[in-house]
This record gives sequence, structure tokens and C-alpha cells, in this order.
Amino acid sequence: LTNGLHAQGPNEANYDEAKVPKYVLPEVLRTTSNIEVKNKTTWESVRRPELIKLFEDNIYGQMPKKYSNIKYTVSNRDANAMNGKAELKQVLIEVFNNNTSVKINLVLFVPNAAKKPVPVFLLINNRGKENTDPTRATKSEFWPAEMLIDSGYAIAAIHVTDLAPDDKEKYVNGVLQLYPDQLTADNGMKAIGAWAWGASRVMDYFETDKEIDATKVAVVGHSRGGKASLFAAAEDQRFAMCITNCSGNTGAALARRQFGERINRINASFPHWFNTNYKKYNNNENALPVDQHMLIALVAPRPLYATNASKDLWADPTGTFLSLKNAEKVYALYGKKSNLPATPPGINQPIIQSPLAYHNREGDHNLTAYDWSNFIRFANFHYKKGK
Ligand code: GCU
Repeated sequence: LTNGLHAQGPNEANYDEAKVPKYVLPEVLRTTSNIEVKNKTTWESVRRPELIKLFEDNIYGQMPKKYSNIKYTVSNRDANAMNGKAELKQVLIEVFNNNTSVKINLVLFVPNAAKKPVPVFLLINNRGKENTDPTRATKSEFWPAEMLIDSGYAIAAIHVTDLAPDDKEKYVNGVLQLYPDQLTADNGMKAIGAWAWGASRVMDYFETDKEIDATKVAVVGHSRGGKASLFAAAEDQRFAMCITNCSGNTGAALARRQFGERINRINASFPHWFNTNYKKYNNNENALPVDQHMLIALVAPRPLYATNASKDLWADPTGTFLSLKNAEKVYALYGKKSNLPATPPGINQPIIQSPLAYHNREGDHNLTAYDWSNFIRFANFHYKKGK
């Protein structure tokens, strides 16, 4: 495995732009009954719900909205964390349904100097728990809490293991226990749906925390976590902003390009991520009634930032950029003009002053301080906090 390229086998991945097949994307502004969507009213009342259902039924599974109870307990609080710069709150979010519960451990730092309520970035952490260390003994670029606090933002994180362990057998031990019907349905929720569901429960909590501006919550994820942050923002319109970092196949990248990772590979390696119906599209991308530009479009008109890394061809940087471009017309229905160029910008040339933002960072598949510093600039621009 060199340069982020995965081993080539019988289903070898294509990394050659010349071998991308000719493809026609399904039309985002045309309903299944063949009506052209010309305004946001038809988009919101007809096409948007139709697309949500298509993504649920064919890819991510259903998103259960009901539960019997939710409880928030502050398990640890430190008013003077980070040498007095921030307040630390560790909140246990316990959600009850079907006579059982899941416990979501939220780590939250709130800047002491900032005017309240304050906007927040919420990371769906798919990597080691140490990345979001509340004691700050361990610091990581994956979740550079001090950088966000110094910029006047609150920063929060949850870990995917609390919701659905990232394992093809153990993923059932979490949110799925609350919704047993999902386990047997062909369009049932699996791990990535459960992670997105968890982000929405944190949103429920933010709506009760007077220090947090629940109208300014950015949901952030890297790679498999970025697939979840994108689906979460599509499903839950309370998220004001979405950041999908190196999310690649079944994230921000177009499936029909068949570049880098493909559906057959992702379903073979991670059968617990997407629903059973999705397996029908193995080596059959063109049969999908959707493509990933439509998932981006479901975030409209809210600001969305997608990224790639130059050596991470597995996640198809060009296919990600094209996904954004093909969602522009839905943002336009809201009068939101994208400032993305016609072709992908160069490496380390972020396009930030746009509702659809993009960068391709030099380097490997990762979430870094460079990425976060641009997310801050993006939020500053859209929240009009100055440049
Ligand atoms: C694998 C997988 C990707 C995923 C990535 C990650 O490479 O094939 O789809 O995005 O892991 O989560 O880091």
C-alpha cells in the first residue's frame, strides 16, 4: 500500500482518469414521476422527501426519529480547563427505547471568553478515543480543541463505538438494540446510520444547553465518519453546517465514476455500514436511483465543506469535487451562488467563500490542523464573524 493506493486484485481499483466510464447522473431536479423541479417549494415538498427515502431505502437505511426518553447527566465539569480558557463539560446522553438504552459520552469544551451562546463543531470520532482526550494530556490534530477554543468556537466529540461498534458482528450492540426491527429489514439502519443518529441526539442535547447556539452546529466527520456527518446533515436539518472530510465512496464522491473505491469493495470490506439493499449495486452503480451529488444537495441551503487529500486517490478527489458541482443547482434554488471553479482547484487552494466549499490538501488520508484551520475560516465567513 503506497501513496494511499489500495492493493490491486481481481476487482482492481481504477486510478486512471482515462478509464472512467461515460456515465449519466440521475437528475437531481427531476422527480421520479418526471416533473421538473423549478423552485424550492417543489424541492422541499416533493423532491427532497423523495430523495431522503431513496437514500434510506437503497443505501444508509431508515433513520428512526422516535425514542421513549432521553436523559442528560453532566458527569464531569471543569470551569477552568485549558489553563482557564475553556469550560469542560462531559455529558452522558442516555437514550431509552424498547426497554433498553444507549449511553453516548459527549466531550464538550466551551470557550470562556466568547459571548454566549456560542457556535459549536461536533466531531463524529471514528478513530482512537485518545484523539478527543478531555484531560488534554494527549493532543491530536484530528480534534485540535485548543485551536477551536482560541478561535471562539466550542468543540465537541462523540465516539462511534458508543453507537455502533465498527465491526461486522458487534455493530448491533448499540443503537440497533433500541430499534430491533431495523436488524431484519432490507432497508434497515446499520452502523453509519447509527452514527448519524447519535449526532442528532447530541443536537437534542445542544438545544437544552444555554451556552451553545443550537442554530450554529457544524457536524464534522472524517472518512467513514464523514460519510456519517453527510448523512446526518441530510437527515437532520437542525445542523447548520456540514463538514465531510475525505469521505470518498458512499460519502461525498460520485459512485458512477467507479474511480478508487467502489461499492462492491466497500460492501465486501464493511458489510455492516450500509443496508442490505445496497449490496444490489455491487458492480452495478448505474442501477442506483441516486448518486452522491444528491446527498450533498439534501444539505442545501446550508453551508457544506468537502475535502480531499492529494495522495488519497482511493477517496476520488475529482469525483468529490464533481459531486459538489452537480449539487450547485439546488443551492441556486435558494439564491445561494456557489463560487466553486469549473474544474477542481489546485492542491492547497481552498475555496471557502461559497456555500459549497472544497479543498484538496497535500498529503495523506487524514484530518489535520490544516483542514480544521480552513473549517474555522469557513464558519467565520458564513457566520459573519469576520475573516
Ligand atoms: C477504508 C474504506 C473507506 C473509508 C476509510 C476510512 O479505506 O475503504 O471507505 O472512508 O477506510 O474510514 O478511513
